[in-house]
Amino acid sequence: MKKYCYSIPLSIALLGMILTSIAQATPWNKLTSDELEATLVDKFAAGQYSTKGADSCLMCHKKNATVMAIFDGVHGQATSTDSPMAGLQCEACHGPQGRHNKGGKEPMISFNPDSKLSVTAQNTVCQGCHNDASQMAWHNSTHNLEEIACTDCHVVHSAKDPALNPLTVNNTCTSCHSQEKADMSKRSSHPLKWDQMTCIDCHSPHGSMGESALNQPSINDTCFSCHAEKRGPFLWEHAPVTENCITCHNPHGSVNENLLNSRAPQLCQQCHANDGHASKVVTQPGMDAFGAGASCLNCHSQIHGSNHPAGSLLQR
Ligand code: HEC
Ligand code: HEC
Ligand code: HEC
Ligand code: HEC
Ligand code: HEC
Ligand code: HEC
Ligand code: HEC
Ligand code: HEC
Ligand code: HEC
Ligand code: HEC
Repeated sequence: MKKYCYSIPLSIALLGMILTSIAQATPWNKLTSDELEATLVDKFAAGQYSTKGADSCLMCHKKNATVMAIFDGVHGQATSTDSPMAGLQCEACHGPQGRHNKGGKEPMISFNPDSKLSVTAQNTVCQGCHNDASQMAWHNSTHNLEEIACTDCHVVHSAKDPALNPLTVNNTCTSCHSQEKADMSKRSSHPLKWDQMTCIDCHSPHGSMGESALNQPSINDTCFSCHAEKRGPFLWEHAPVTENCITCHNPHGSVNENLLNSRAPQLCQQCHANDGHASKVVTQPGMDAFGAGASCLNCHSQIHGSNHPAGSLLQR
C-alpha cells in the first residue's frame, strides 16, 4: 500500500522529467527554421535581455577566440551611441538571451552558414543599424534575391573584415564566383590576380542601379572610368564600340590578347562578311586580308574610332 501510493507520484514526476528533458534536449538546431524564428520572436516580445550585457555571455564564451575577436573590430567598441557595445552589446546582434544561459540550449540568432535562421532574418539584424544610402540598392540586388547573407562576405568577429581590405576582397568574391576566378588567371586579364585591382572597382557588392551590379550606369561608362581615351566622341566611330565594349572584350579575362572574346579575323567576321572586301584589298601584293595569320587590325588599326579626316575606314 505504501509502495503503491509512493510510486504514482514518482512515475508522474519521472514522466514529467522525461518529457521536460525531451523538450529541453531537442537540440535547437533540429528545430525547423519556422519553429526557431517563432521562439526568437517570443523572446524578443518578452524582451528577455540579460541584465549584465556582454559579461553574461562571456561567462561561457570567453574561451572562444573567435568570439573575443569582436572586441578588436568596430562592433566591439563603444565608438558611438549607435554601436552595439553602447547598447544591448552582444544581444544587439544575437537577440535576447532568454533561457539560453541555462546551458546554451535555447537558441540565439546565429549567422554562420549552418544557421537555421533564414538569410532574410539574419540580414534584417544587420540592416537594423545599416540602412543608409549605401544599402539602397540591396533589396533588388541579385545577391539579395539569391539569398546571400551579409555575413557571407563580412566577418564581424575580427579585427579586420576581409571584405573591406583591397588585398583580400577578391578572395571573398571568388570564393563563390569560380568562373571569374578562372578568368582572372588567363593569359590576358585585368590585374585582379595581383590585387592591384579589385572586383569592386567595377561592381558594387550591395547592388546598384546599373546592370550586373556595376558601379556606373552602363558597361561603357564603367570602362570609361579608367579608359577615358576610348570615350570619344570620334569623327569616325565604330558602331559596336559605342554600343558595348564587351561585344569584343571579356572584362574578367581571356585566353586571347587584349581581353578579346576571340581573335581577328573571326572577331570581326561575326559582323563583317568577307565577300567583296577581299577582292579589292588583295590587289596589294603580298597582302591577303583574309588569309592565315592576316589580321584585319594591320590595316584597320583604329578599331575604337578615328579622328583622322580620312579615317572613315578606321585605318588611321
Ligand atoms: C551558461 C553558458 C552560456 C551563456 C551564459 C551564454 N551561452 Fe551562448 N552558448 C552556450 C552553449 C553551451 C552553446 C552551444 C554550444 C556551442 O556551440 O558553443 C552556445 C551557443 C551560442 C551561439 C550559437 C553558436 C553557433 O554556432 O550557432 C551563440 C550565437 C551564442 N551562444 C551567443 C551567446 C550570447 C550572445 C550570450 C549572451 C547574451 C550567450 N551566448 C550566453 C553557452 C552559453
Ligand atoms: C555586430 C553583430 C555582432 C555582435 C555585436 C556580436 N556578434 Fe557574435 N556573431 C556575429 C556574427 C555575424 C557571427 C558569425 C561569424 C562572424 O561573422 O564573425 C557571430 C558568431 C558568434 C558565435 C559563434 C562563434 C563560433 O565559433 O562559431 C558566438 C558564440 C558569438 N558570436 C557570441 C557573441 C558574443 C558573446 C558577443 C558579445 C561579446 C557577440 N557575439 C557580439 C555577430 C555579432
Ligand atoms: C547595433 C548596431 C549595429 C548592428 C546590429 C550591426 N552593426 Fe555594423 N556597424 C555598426 C557601427 C556603429 C559601425 C561603425 C562604423 C559606422 O559608423 O558605420 C559598424 C560598422 C560596420 C562595418 C564597417 C566596418 C569597418 O571596419 O569600417 C561593416 C562591414 C558592418 N558594420 C557590418 C555589419 C554586419 C554584417 C552586421 C550584422 C551581422 C552588423 N554590421 C550589425 C553598428 C551595427
Ligand atoms: C557580396 C559581398 C557582400 C555582401 C553580401 C554584403 N557586403 Fe557589405 N561590403 C562588401 C564590400 C566588398 C564592402 C566594401 C565596399 C567599398 O569599399 O566600397 C562592403 C562595405 C560595407 C559597409 C561599410 C561601408 C558602407 O558601405 O557603409 C557596411 C556597413 C556593409 N558593407 C554592410 C553590409 C550589410 C548590412 C550587408 C547585408 C545587407 C552587406 N554589407 C552585404 C561586401 C558585401
Ligand atoms: C556566398 C556566395 C557569394 C559571394 C561571397 C559573392 N557572390 Fe556575387 N553572386 C552570388 C550568386 C549566387 C549570384 C547569382 C548567380 C551568378 O550570377 O553567378 C551572384 C551574382 C553576382 C553578380 C551579378 C549581378 C547581376 O545583377 O547580374 C555580380 C556582379 C557579383 N555577384 C559580384 C560579386 C562580388 C564583387 C563579390 C565580392 C565582393 C561577390 N559577388 C561575392 C554569390 C556570391
Ligand atoms: C573591369 C571591370 C570589371 C571587373 C574588375 C570585374 N568585373 Fe565582373 N563584370 C563586369 C562587366 C562589364 C560585366 C557584365 C558582363 C555581361 O553583361 O556579360 C560583369 C559581370 C559579372 C558577373 C555576372 C556574370 C553573368 O554571366 O551574368 C559576375 C558574377 C561578375 N561580373 C563577378 C565579378 C567578380 C567576382 C570579379 C572579381 C574577380 C569581377 N566581376 C571583376 C566588369 C568587371
Ligand atoms: C578601375 C580601372 C579600370 C576599369 C574600370 C577598366 N579597366 Fe581595363 N584596364 C585597367 C588596367 C589597370 C589595365 C592594365 C593596364 C596595363 O597593364 O598597362 C587595363 C587593361 C585593359 C585592357 C588590355 C588588357 C591586356 O591584356 O593588355 C583591355 C582590353 C581593357 N582594360 C578593357 C576594359 C574594358 C572593356 C573595361 C570595361 C568593362 C575596362 N577595361 C574597365 C583598368 C581598368
Ligand atoms: C569591335 C571590337 C571591339 C570593341 C567593341 C571594343 N574593342 Fe577594345 N580592342 C579591340 C581590339 C581588336 C583590340 C586590340 C587592338 C590592337 O591589337 O591594336 C582592343 C584593345 C583594347 C585595349 C588595349 C589596347 C589599347 O588600345 O589601349 C583597351 C584598353 C580597350 N580595347 C578598351 C576598349 C573599351 C573601353 C571599349 C568600349 C568603349 C572597347 N575596347 C571596345 C576591339 C574592340
Ligand atoms: C558586333 C559587330 C561588329 C564587330 C564584331 C566588328 N564590327 Fe566593324 N562595324 C560594325 C558596324 C555595325 C559598322 C558600321 C557599318 C556601317 O556604318 O555601314 C562597322 C564598321 C566598320 C568599319 C568601317 C567601314 C564602314 O563601312 O563604315 C571597319 C573598317 C570595320 N568595321 C572593321 C572591323 C574590324 C577590323 C573588326 C574586328 C576587329 C570589326 N569591325 C568588328 C560592326 C562590327
Ligand atoms: C591589307 C589591308 C586590309 C586588311 C588586312 C583588311 N582590310 Fe578591310 N579594308 C581595307 C581597305 C583598303 C578598304 C577600303 C577599300 C575597299 O573599299 O575595299 C577596306 C574596307 C573595309 C570595310 C568597309 C566595307 C567594304 O567592304 O568596303 C570593312 C567593313 C572592312 N574593311 C573590314 C575588314 C575586316 C573585318 C578585315 C579582316 C577580316 C579587314 N577589313 C582586313 C584594307 C584592309
